Amino acid sequence: MAIRRVIRMGHPVLRQVARPLEPDEIGSEFITHLISDMQDTLHDYGGIGLAAPQIGEPLRLAIIEIEGGPSRYGELEAMPLTVFINPVITVIDPAAEGYWEGCLSVPGLRGYVERPQHIKTQYLSENGEVKGLELQGFPATVFQHEFDHLDGKLYIDRITDTRLLAFEKEFEQFRLDDED
Ligand code: NI
Repeated sequence: MAIRRVIRMGHPVLRQVARPLEPDEIGSEFITHLISDMQDTLHDYGGIGLAAPQIGEPLRLAIIEIEGGPSRYGELEAMPLTVFINPVITVIDPAAEGYWEGCLSVPGLRGYVERPQHIKTQYLSENGEVKGLELQGFPATVFQHEFDHLDGKLYIDRITDTRLLAFEKEFEQFRLDDED
């Protein structure tokens, strides 16, 4: 178990398409350690999602953990720590809504991104079981943000109006009132 350094925008690994895990890699010591390091890193950095490429491992593996309760995104339903291996995504309803996203690999910034709000994913768990999950609202946005990391995309690529990109400090100073 170890806290790893999160690589930042400009590092080429963040722009790679990550490779899927082979079935026999799931449950291996390397992957078990990697998942454990990702959890430690997520908790240390205080994030809600982390993709393996963000700690320099270009693999299709991401984790999400949403603490329930009030947040800057409004009242959130908790999502226990979930490990997504080789996820695929299906949009159930393309109707999009926006959130001010942030990213541990793009520290200090917030940007407004619209994404479909009703999706489902099929993925493998850390034990290699096939799982399905339907996500709506904020968790759907978080999932798509992490999924993008596996394809070498960052949320800033999806900002359609770059006026809606701000430093955190200024965002909190000037933009919070605009949130609904
Ligand atoms: Ni991110």
